[in-house]
Amino acid sequence: METTKRLFAAVLFLFIVALYILIATPEVNAAGNCSVNIESTDAMQFNTSEIVIPKSCSKYTVNLKHTGKMPKNMMGHNVVISKVKDQKAVIDEGLKAGADNNYVKQNDARVLLATKIIGGGESTSAVLAVDKLSENDEYVFFCSFPGHAFAMKGTVKLI
Ligand code: CO
Repeated sequence: METTKRLFAAVLFLFIVALYILIATPEVNAAGNCSVNIESTDAMQFNTSEIVIPKSCSKYTVNLKHTGKMPKNMMGHNVVISKVKDQKAVIDEGLKAGADNNYVKQNDARVLLATKIIGGGESTSAVLAVDKLSENDEYVFFCSFPGHAFAMKGTVKLI
């Protein structure tokens, strides 16, 4: 009888472990590693200076939240990803494109990801095709709202 109980307990334990591996782990990988939640503020700041993108993700989602109160025409924020060497051109072209285009030139191949511009209390998302990134290049994320990129920027790492 005692042996049967122990056997039952052992089988139950293995079953729970197997269930965890089958169900919990893929969920963590899908939701945890292939996306990032970034907050931005009325003080012209992102709350992170680095985005880490695993090569194993085919798509990578950037979720941006504006935790401030100021409207988007005064303290608008977006997230744009480009190569480091393209950043200045992307910002200059974004300025010309203006607020109606979220300060991003349309159909610009140098823009690898761009959310819309949001104001206080708003949220937005954009998806990056990870195969656009190469280990041989350096990438940056920034806000393309006029005058913001000097303070609102960080590195994008492919791992
Ligand atoms: Co901004």
